[in-house]
Amino acid sequence: MTDVAAKDSLTVTDNRTGQQYDIAINDNTIAAKDLGQIRLTEDEPGLATYDPGFVNTASCRSAVTFIDGDKGILEYRGYPIEQLAEKSNFLEVAYLLVHGSLPTKEQYDSWVHEITYHTFVHENVKGFMHGFRYDAHPMGMLMASVGALSTFYPDARNISDADNRHMQIVRMIAKMPTLGAWSFRHAQGKPFVYPDNDLGYTANFLSMLFKMSEQKFEADPRLVKALDVLFILHADHEQNCSTNAVRSVGSSQVDPYSAVAAGVGALYGPLHGGANEAVLRMLKRIGSKENIPAFIEGVKNGNERLMGFGHRVYKNFDPRATIIKKACDDVFEVTGVNPLLEIAKELEKIALEDEYFVKRKLYPNVDFYSGLIYEAFQFPPEMFTVLFAIGRTPGWLAQWAELVQDKDQKIARPKQIYTGDRELTFTAASERWA
Ligand code: CMC
Repeated sequence: MTDVAAKDSLTVTDNRTGQQYDIAINDNTIAAKDLGQIRLTEDEPGLATYDPGFVNTASCRSAVTFIDGDKGILEYRGYPIEQLAEKSNFLEVAYLLVHGSLPTKEQYDSWVHEITYHTFVHENVKGFMHGFRYDAHPMGMLMASVGALSTFYPDARNISDADNRHMQIVRMIAKMPTLGAWSFRHAQGKPFVYPDNDLGYTANFLSMLFKMSEQKFEADPRLVKALDVLFILHADHEQNCSTNAVRSVGSSQVDPYSAVAAGVGALYGPLHGGANEAVLRMLKRIGSKENIPAFIEGVKNGNERLMGFGHRVYKNFDPRATIIKKACDDVFEVTGVNPLLEIAKELEKIALEDEYFVKRKLYPNVDFYSGLIYEAFQFPPEMFTVLFAIGRTPGWLAQWAELVQDKDQKIARPKQIYTGDRELTFTAASERWA
């Protein structure tokens, strides 16, 4: 230990040995590896931290997204989500996330052009999409097909080349709606619709989903706008479960299609992107307002969770939920009100006044109302997480590109605390079973 500890440091006394250590504090964190110097004896492993779920561990430095969970603040590259949702569009936000700053007119036009002209997928993709069972979950199809794109673009393995990275980023943002829409059409037994590159990003997605025999599919512009806003709200969310999966898999220096496939897998789970599907099923099961008190009792007794409530980071409100609630009104103006909205609003009201939820700082999150909007679009619940994945793709890729260029990063490889047996003597099966 130094005589006078630096101000930005932590002085720790190991009470097992009486030894003191100075550990530097940078950005309000200590480097976990600095704890490694704290050890009982020279030949024992140094002290480590135990943090399942990374509840209090930073895994990277990132300049992509800022969240202040207590204040309900979400910013992409410094711009508040409320302003982006109101004044920007999804492709501009995607540019912002990927490049780090807003585009000039030329940069924007060129970006939109690039994305638009990469919306088509190789014809063979149709072949393996058709190979899925008729009732395949579209998230499973999306995960498999985006991973399979790595076989179509073997050059994507060259992740150290900036131009190459850009190419794959463009391809993936462009092709995710095509893969997502085709997953949907497959389940419906309908022919796949090719991209219509005269349409904007979100309008083209709706065309690939819903076009039948008409020459051109023209979605109501209010619905296009609402879906575009939903994509913006989902575009990034710093080190969430799926982004962590993308980074973790990407840290092995695999191609970005494989890394994003891992992200899609993580998003599929009901505690992450699958929550909006779970919310809708929950609302349908509750069925009417009279059943809410009994349902809430069940949640409080630990029988189940109130899906769409609670967040690891937001402990006040989720700013995305506020914007979505407003988008509900815009969508329902076109489609008519979803009868489940009444149940959702009543559920929210009761939960927000109930001590169980207040004490645990549980508030509606982005998924509480998004499912209602998606249903109004006539998406089946299995499609909800696909929409989330399309929105999240630029965020995954921005975070992946940041990881690849970050000299501090290493292959992700957490420690464990081993709790199993040691040094047992093996007896051959023939003897054990004799
Ligand atoms: N319903 C009932 N109780 C809850 C809920 C909920 N939705 N969420 C948390 N709790 C309770 C939990 O039981 C625990 O209580 P206690 O202290 O008595 O054991 C306490 O609140 C803390 O919960 P936690 O599980 O330790 O919190 P976490 O930060 O690990 O989990 C979460 C965050 C989002 C996984 C969790 O709140 C949850 O399961 N919510 C429901 C699923 C959901 O809506 N997920 C979407 C998240 S937002 C979209 C996204 O980013 O993917």
